[in-house]
Amino acid sequence: MTPQEVLRPFLPLLFAILLLFLSFALPTVWGAPWFPTSRQTADRMIELAALRPRDKVFDLGCGDGRILFRAWKRARVRGVGVDINPWWVLMCRAKARLLRAHRDLTFQWTNLFKVDLHEADVVFLYLLQETNESLLPRLARQLRPGARIVSNSFTLPGWPMVARDDGSRVYVYEMSSDDRSAIGLDQAARTGANGATPPLVPYLHQMMIGSCGPACVAMVRGHYLGLQELRPKSEMRDWIRTWLFPFGMTEAYGLATALSRHGLRVKLYKERPDFRVHFRFGGLLGLIVKAFAAWARLYSQHFRRTALSQGVDVRIGPVELELVRRATDDGSPAVVMVDQSAYAPDADYPDGVLHWVVVLRFEEEAVVFHDPDLGPEQRVSTAVFEKAMDLSAFQIDRQFVVAVPVAR
Ligand SMILES: C[S@@+](CC[C@H](N)C(=O)[O-])C[C@H]1O[C@@H](n2cnc3c(N)ncnc32)[C@H](O)[C@@H]1O
Repeated sequence: MTPQEVLRPFLPLLFAILLLFLSFALPTVWGAPWFPTSRQTADRMIELAALRPRDKVFDLGCGDGRILFRAWKRARVRGVGVDINPWWVLMCRAKARLLRAHRDLTFQWTNLFKVDLHEADVVFLYLLQETNESLLPRLARQLRPGARIVSNSFTLPGWPMVARDDGSRVYVYEMSSDDRSAIGLDQAARTGANGATPPLVPYLHQMMIGSCGPACVAMVRGHYLGLQELRPKSEMRDWIRTWLFPFGMTEAYGLATALSRHGLRVKLYKERPDFRVHFRFGGLLGLIVKAFAAWARLYSQHFRRTALSQGVDVRIGPVELELVRRATDDGSPAVVMVDQSAYAPDADYPDGVLHWVVVLRFEEEAVVFHDPDLGPEQRVSTAVFEKAMDLSAFQIDRQFVVAVPVAR
């Protein structure tokens, strides 16, 4: 028997497996991989959507349709689920028939970028940050005033949020009737419409543990250079270029090189010229970490040399909260290293968590910042933020980076 003859009976099966694989793999490139919203988050999304009976609800990238089915059970909405994966569409149609929901819920096998959204009262999203951003102009063009967008995990940069649940990471937006909601909204919001509103800094959720610094860099770049900079791909590229091998973390010199490489004028504030870090591990692990820390210092020196050669303005001296306030006075966001446990204690990390955040502005008694791990626009008292900037537990100096476009 030839190999072809052996394989022939299995060809239909192999073909079916390939088709199944492609249906799940290709959406990753077209918009987002399949990953279901948890039941609790789905309920929270439905609650925050404030659904009314007969509302027309879209789920763009509906997967197994769980959000629409739950919304239908709760409020008897009319729903349209859209997915690029035909298996989900077939499954949802069958389920709708079984539940006798098929008169209210329809499911389309199509690309979400082609769906007509003029009639939508609510749009549910659980995609990726960059897919949300690509979708933004379409939403702005087609949604009618009062329509709500409820997004799981990812934001719509430049749109004012009307509600949020940071615990479930659900963000709610409403289409406003004012002119800024036209297609140029994000641009207007970024530059400050007529100078009346402060410039908004878009938000990016960090892809991995350790990539908080590059995620902050991407937000600053997105702010000055356009939303196309705000991609997990650029975050990853910067991370690989600036991490302190083999730790995975980043420090101010590395982040400064990433910002200045993208054509921004960078000021870096540090208390000590070199980089030292100390983790409180004992025994063999302590020894390994110590060896890694020495290695990381060599990397840091390399980034310091690069930063200086790229013209980064390095200022060594005491770093207080007041210095961050002054550096951000003109609306420039600052990328600041903090101990996250000062405002978000985590029992798994009793010794604290080194973390980068983007400080947006100071309010009377509060600091407002994007935390790439917790979500956009976190607000804590100045006293708590001051405590977060104290990194003495890690024997590391306070540090932050501010960037502005070269022309300014
Ligand atoms: C993260 S899952 C969300 C599923 C569901 N909405 C939920 O919350 O459980 C993303 C879904 O979007 C679908 N998808 C990705 N790109 C798409 C596109 N361009 N058009 C339509 N659906 C797409 C995927 O097949 C996947 O089912």
